[in-house]
Amino acid sequence: MAVHPILRIGDPRLRRVAEPVTEFATDSLHTLISDMFETMHAADGAGLAAPQIGINLRLMIFGVEATPRYPDAEAVPKTVLINPGYEVLSDATAGMWEGCLSVPGMRGYVTRSSHIRYWGFDVNGERIERETNGYHSIVFLHEYDHLDGILYTDRLDDSRRFGFTEELAMSGALET
Ligand code: NI
Repeated sequence: MAVHPILRIGDPRLRRVAEPVTEFATDSLHTLISDMFETMHAADGAGLAAPQIGINLRLMIFGVEATPRYPDAEAVPKTVLINPGYEVLSDATAGMWEGCLSVPGMRGYVTRSSHIRYWGFDVNGERIERETNGYHSIVFLHEYDHLDGILYTDRLDDSRRFGFTEELAMSGALET
C-alpha cells in the first residue's frame, strides 16, 4: 500500500485519453486500487481517477461517507469502476461548487446532468450498473471526465464563479 503523489492541473498527463483495462483480478490491479483508495483518503477526496496518479487507465474510484471537503454532501457508495460508460436519462441538471484533488485549494461552479445510468466493471470483471441522481451522478461524471483528459475547470458555468476556496468561503459565494 502506498500513497501516490497526485498530479496537478498543468501536468499534460491529466490531458490524455486513458486506455481500457484489459486484464482483471490481477495482483497489479488489486494493488493499484488499494493505492488509489489510500491516496484518496489521505487527501480527503470524494473520488480519484487513475490518470490523476499518472496511470493512464480507464479506472476510477469514489465514495463519500462524511468528508470535510463536502460537509453537506449526501453519501455515495464506495465504488470501483473500470472501463465505465454512461447515458443521460433526462434533461434534469444539478449545479454545485466542485473541487478536484488535481486543482487543490480551489472550487468552481459546474452544472451537469443529474439523472444518468452508468456502468462498468469491478476489479474481478463483474459488471456494475446503476441509475443515479444528484450528487452521486455529479461525482461519477467528474471522475469520468478525468478518463478523457477533461477537468472541471473546462466546464465552468461562468469563469467568474471559480477561485480559491478560502476567498470564496469568506465572500459567502459557496452558499449560493
Ligand atoms: Ni477531479
